[in-house]
Amino acid sequence: MSKQILILNGSPRIHGNTAALIDAFTAGAEAAGHTIARFDLAALDIHGCRGCLGGGRDPRHPCVQRDGMDAVYPAYMAADVVVLASPMYYWSISGQLKCAFDRLFAVAELGPDLANPVKDAVLLMAAEGDTEENFAPVRAYYKALLDCLGWKDAGIVYAGGNMAVGDIQAHPEQLEAARQLGAAL
Ligand SMILES: Cc1cc2nc3c(=O)[nH]c(=O)nc-3n(C[C@H](O)[C@H](O)[C@H](O)COP(=O)(O)O)c2cc1C
Repeated sequence: MSKQILILNGSPRIHGNTAALIDAFTAGAEAAGHTIARFDLAALDIHGCRGCLGGGRDPRHPCVQRDGMDAVYPAYMAADVVVLASPMYYWSISGQLKCAFDRLFAVAELGPDLANPVKDAVLLMAAEGDTEENFAPVRAYYKALLDCLGWKDAGIVYAGGNMAVGDIQAHPEQLEAARQLGAAL
């Protein structure tokens, strides 16, 4: 079945390692007949959640703040799969991705019980470190996030050993893992 896939790219490096993972994932997903909506979050004007609990009044723009998230919300609501694509920044996702993800709370506010829309999730992450220990905090964070949202994990690619832009080209197995994940959805 063809799926709508939302990719939230948290890397500010437009030709960086995360972008390479996204490109490989996209190639696999599109070959399998899925539709991709990709947002390069660093290029958008996205402000932090204010925690006002005042959202959810208008499905066309669920948050009280009107900014770059206006474009993301419709794609998020339509998506079957949400891809969190990010460089590891201090053992977590990047600020750009965290900022945007917090703002998705306004969609939960549209429902009566702050019920989150049901999605599958994918995590694509580039990092310098390449050990189990290095990825442990992100692994725990991603699990806690999905448990909270009630989402199902559809797959993870941890691409360690990549610091500079282009380093990932020396790890074709990581790009192939991303491509296969996209194709397998
Ligand atoms: C502010 C900052 C924090 C980082 N923190 C980590 C870290 O905690 N662990 C790690 O392995 N790599 C860390 N890195 C390295 C990046 O994850 C790595 O360069 C990654 O390949 C960047 O992906 P990109 O090319 O998509 O931007 C950090 C890089 C920056 C700029």
